Amino acid sequence: MRSSPRSGRRRLPALALLAAAVLALPQAAAAAPATAQADTLGAQAALSGRYFGAAVAAGRLGDSTYAGIVDREFSSVTAENEMKWDTLEPSRGSFNFGPGDRIADRALARGQKVRGHTLVWHSQLPGWVNSTRDANTLRTVMNNHITTVMNHYRGKIHSWDVVNEAFADGGSGGLRGSVFRDVLGDGFLEEAFRTARQADPSAKLCYNDYNIENWTDAKTQGVYRMVRDFKARGVPIDCVGLQSHFGTGGPPASFQTTISSFAALGVDVQLTELDIEGASQAAYSSAVRACMNVARCTGITVWGVRDSDSWRTGQNPLLFDNGGNKKPAYHSVMSVLGGA
Ligand code: XIL
Repeated sequence: MRSSPRSGRRRLPALALLAAAVLALPQAAAAAPATAQADTLGAQAALSGRYFGAAVAAGRLGDSTYAGIVDREFSSVTAENEMKWDTLEPSRGSFNFGPGDRIADRALARGQKVRGHTLVWHSQLPGWVNSTRDANTLRTVMNNHITTVMNHYRGKIHSWDVVNEAFADGGSGGLRGSVFRDVLGDGFLEEAFRTARQADPSAKLCYNDYNIENWTDAKTQGVYRMVRDFKARGVPIDCVGLQSHFGTGGPPASFQTTISSFAALGVDVQLTELDIEGASQAAYSSAVRACMNVARCTGITVWGVRDSDSWRTGQNPLLFDNGGNKKPAYHSVMSVLGGA
């Protein structure tokens, strides 16, 4: 009977079912609502192995409401301005690590991670760099900045935005004009990443930009081609930061496609500067859900704490109101982070 064709046929559906169940396992596990529910953003994100961070301004840390929220809710911090070139190296070869250290050391002492933002950027760049028009000098200046800053923070920073906002807006899909592009050529990006890998091999090296959240945009495609090219040629890159500064509608419909397409190139994706005009629950939910749905989307940072701390004055784009109270979007984010 066991060997009869009939019973053999009858076994097939059972085997097929078993195979289907086994194949479906990882997906089922990922989609299942997390049973344990935490009570802060950082702890809730940790249930899926992610971090949830905020941009922090050194000058606000004396405000106890602000500092209380930072310490309670977030598992990662990014210095909002204190690790930018104009603060770190205001004149050639003279480095000012005080404000950045204040943020980093405070965070590390509390068990929070630190994102490094940012090494090479055309903005918040001191005049002396902008007026360096000799290629050999600029190359030395750029590499010295990367090396000195990364050595200083070596072992303390989980991910560095090595290059920020190098691509042009609009339809070109190419690099924007900047002293780096104009004097060193497009190769400055590759050089920056190679220098960064040598300076701190333990840090993840990210390319970070805005308006690269909509998959079909020329700018998104340009960054995608660069990352693909870097991976193909062995240029070190570990992550792409999608800044995720959104209008009232939140992320574009293709946001998850963008995240998963970058991830498929073999890099992590992080939402690095999330804020959404008006902070609707639906918009925040869909931004966070897109990240949760991609295994290699490893963390989310919101660009500030209370609305009154935001760089987008009057747009109320954050998760806490001016009084430090949790807004409705906070609760939506918590529920999406928990798998709901
Ligand atoms: C912003 C800060 O929030 C402001 O305080 C500062 O005046 C300007 O820069 N993209 C970035 C961030 O990569 O560094 C910017 O931060 C916001 C846009």
